[in-house]
Amino acid sequence: AEKYTHLQRNPNFSELTQEDISFFQKILPSNCLIIDKQDDLLPYNIDWMRKYRGKSRLVAKPQTTEQVSRLIEYCNGRKLAVVPQGGNTGLVGGGVPVFDEIIISTNNLNKIRSFDPLSGSLVCDSGCILENLDNYLAEQGYVMPLDLGAKGSCQIGGNVATNAGGLRFLRYGSLHGNVLGLEAVLPDGTILDNLATLRKDNTGYDLKQLFIGSEGTLGIVTGVSIQTPRRPKAVNVALVGLSSFENVQDAFIKAKEELSEILSAFEFWDASAVKLIKDHLVQGSRFPLEDNYPFYVLVESSGSNKVHDDEKLLCFLENLLEKDIAKNAIVAQDETQFRTIWSIREGIPEACSKAGSVYKYDVSMPLEFLYKMVEDVRCRFTDAGLYGEDLAVNSITGYGHVGDGNLHLNISAKSYAPEITALIEPWIYEWIEKHKGSISAEHGLGLMKAKYLGFSKSKSMIDMMKKIKQIVDPNGIMNPYKFISD
Ligand code: FAD
Ligand code: MLT
Ligand code: ZN
Repeated sequence: AEKYTHLQRNPNFSELTQEDISFFQKILPSNCLIIDKQDDLLPYNIDWMRKYRGKSRLVAKPQTTEQVSRLIEYCNGRKLAVVPQGGNTGLVGGGVPVFDEIIISTNNLNKIRSFDPLSGSLVCDSGCILENLDNYLAEQGYVMPLDLGAKGSCQIGGNVATNAGGLRFLRYGSLHGNVLGLEAVLPDGTILDNLATLRKDNTGYDLKQLFIGSEGTLGIVTGVSIQTPRRPKAVNVALVGLSSFENVQDAFIKAKEELSEILSAFEFWDASAVKLIKDHLVQGSRFPLEDNYPFYVLVESSGSNKVHDDEKLLCFLENLLEKDIAKNAIVAQDETQFRTIWSIREGIPEACSKAGSVYKYDVSMPLEFLYKMVEDVRCRFTDAGLYGEDLAVNSITGYGHVGDGNLHLNISAKSYAPEITALIEPWIYEWIEKHKGSISAEHGLGLMKAKYLGFSKSKSMIDMMKKIKQIVDPNGIMNPYKFISD
């Protein structure tokens, strides 16, 4: 894990005492608490990338909203710092403690509360796992409006708290639009009950929006009401090989033009990602396209008429090949191939991690500059003599959600090292600012980008955020040291 020499534990926070432990034992059954058992605490203290590691002594796993309320009210009164944690798949170090913060895990808040098959509104606990929700909806003919590679572990509360984007964003848009209501517990124990299922409700400030993307700094989301669309009847996917990022952009324009209403995903990755996939996840011979290409695009169509949709997709691909925008393309012939193509895309983060310790940058930018950032980073590491198979940095990979102008740059290194970090930051954030991008498209700020908010938000915006934080969490116990802490 990386070392945070720039951070010091805030002495205003209390340290856990035996009295505190006794209180927690009074409100939660023993199987909902982990106390001072290092092996059991470890998965909660360390993040998915194994980059961030805290030293919490206690994990509380409440089973009801009322228990969350009692826990947090007590922590606030005692000035015990708290980290809310869902599936712990976050990629910016936001969901793990920095020092000894108490972890409040939503793992036991995992019930579906209601589903209305007429409107498609789903109301559930925040700890429901995204994939479980999607499987439940599949039985009803509906679909979750978001999908991520982490679906098997991430929770809807964590998705809301990070305002996760993901693979269906192009089709269904942001959680800011799809979330109909939330139930959240504030640091003083107040249960903010706004689990509305209405599509329209213009009655005052839309407070739920504050929690979407708040990364656990304002309160704990305990319930989510979400608008779910009908599950498309006909879905297909194509894998395309291309020569340049200009071709990727041309293919995207064509996809919008020719597939229009059935276009549901447009993802890209580079040759470096394919090398990692072949090295670590999919045997070379099982990779669906035989030759190697500098860029790859995954195009998904979703609609209601398979014959019509497949014909459109094939015609689109033929045009790409004819106009020399693409070099090669295949369409999934069956469910297995459909899954293989998607699993290649979804496996890239894991493949990057298998190559080493990963520095992840998640940016949005005008499309024309999207891949230039990867090229400039490669030049920077080459000039520094650090980039190569046996050198400190062995892979610099670009992939992401072209349809949303969102690039994921992954730098895999032998280990996390201050000289590597210093070569990237703040240089990369200056680069993003210069190209009018955002330093976080979808992963959030967490601990990783806490210092750098000023590259994407003005002083007046940050001041306003701090005022809101001060009103809701005057003791600053909610997820301290992360993006909005002093
Ligand atoms: P955690 O990691 O547990 O927490 C994330 C943050 O939310 C923390 O700050 C935490 O304090 C806070 N939090 C969690 N639960 C609550 C709650 N109930 N109330 C208040 N605060 C809470 N992200 C994307 O946007 N798009 C992707 O395509 C995508 N793909 C991914 C693929 C992989 C393989 C992985 C590992 C991650 C991916 N992510 C992606 C990152 C993404 O942020 C998370 O997967 C997900 O949204 C986090 O959910 P979680 O339950 O794991 O939250
Ligand atoms: C993705 O799109 O795969 C995710 O955001 C995860 C990542 O960037 O590693
Ligand atoms: Zn992503």
